[in-house]
Amino acid sequence: MKQRGGSETAKRNAGEYAADYVDDGDVVGLGTGSTAAHAIRALGRRVDAGLDIRGVPTSFQSRELAREAGIPLTTLDDVGGVDVAIDGADQFDRETGALVKGGGAAHTREKLVDASAGRFVVVADPSKAAAELDHTVPVEVLPSARRPVATAVAEMGGDATLRSAKRKDGPVVTDNGNLVLDCAFGAIAEPPALATDLSTTPGVVEHGLFVGLADEVIVGTEDDVERYRYASE
Ligand code: 5RP
Repeated sequence: MKQRGGSETAKRNAGEYAADYVDDGDVVGLGTGSTAAHAIRALGRRVDAGLDIRGVPTSFQSRELAREAGIPLTTLDDVGGVDVAIDGADQFDRETGALVKGGGAAHTREKLVDASAGRFVVVADPSKAAAELDHTVPVEVLPSARRPVATAVAEMGGDATLRSAKRKDGPVVTDNGNLVLDCAFGAIAEPPALATDLSTTPGVVEHGLFVGLADEVIVGTEDDVERYRYASE
């Protein structure tokens, strides 16, 4: 699994803390990335100890990990929504809880599952906290829409770069068969406005700005956690 951001101890502390939010009978959204993976493993240990839950994975990676951990799986199609979702983030705004996600190119399914949650809990290490979002925003696009969307992003003041695969020649292809444009906007003064502009651009499947969705961000430190709470919409 790709390692991004801060220390493994901080990520583990956040993930394991969040796994304790899950109750018997819950349907749980299983996020993607190295921090959410700690929550999935911790949930697997709780399942071994008798916890009765079903998981809804947000990616190929989280499905594989959940299977290894022995978490019974279901689909959003079957359950309609999840009780709690636990997912990582590439950056979060300390004050508003707005997020940038999609470092693992899984943000389309992540947003679908996280937005359906009764409680959406983000797990992060301290390197993800920001006073203002300025991380590149991943935008999943239909393969035929790469150039028109890049042009639209430029008109919004951004600079779109096609995400390249690391151990394959050519681009990253998402779990949905699409491409990812990493869009640099510098500091994002109005995340809700940019989110609307991106969402309404033809050819955009989903973007990595998660505005008004997080109920709580749990930031792991070396020996504890810090919790930020938000009123989600
Ligand atoms: C994947 C994501 C991840 O949750 C995000 O990239 C954080 O990953 P990590 O916990 O490994 O830093 O959005 O699409």
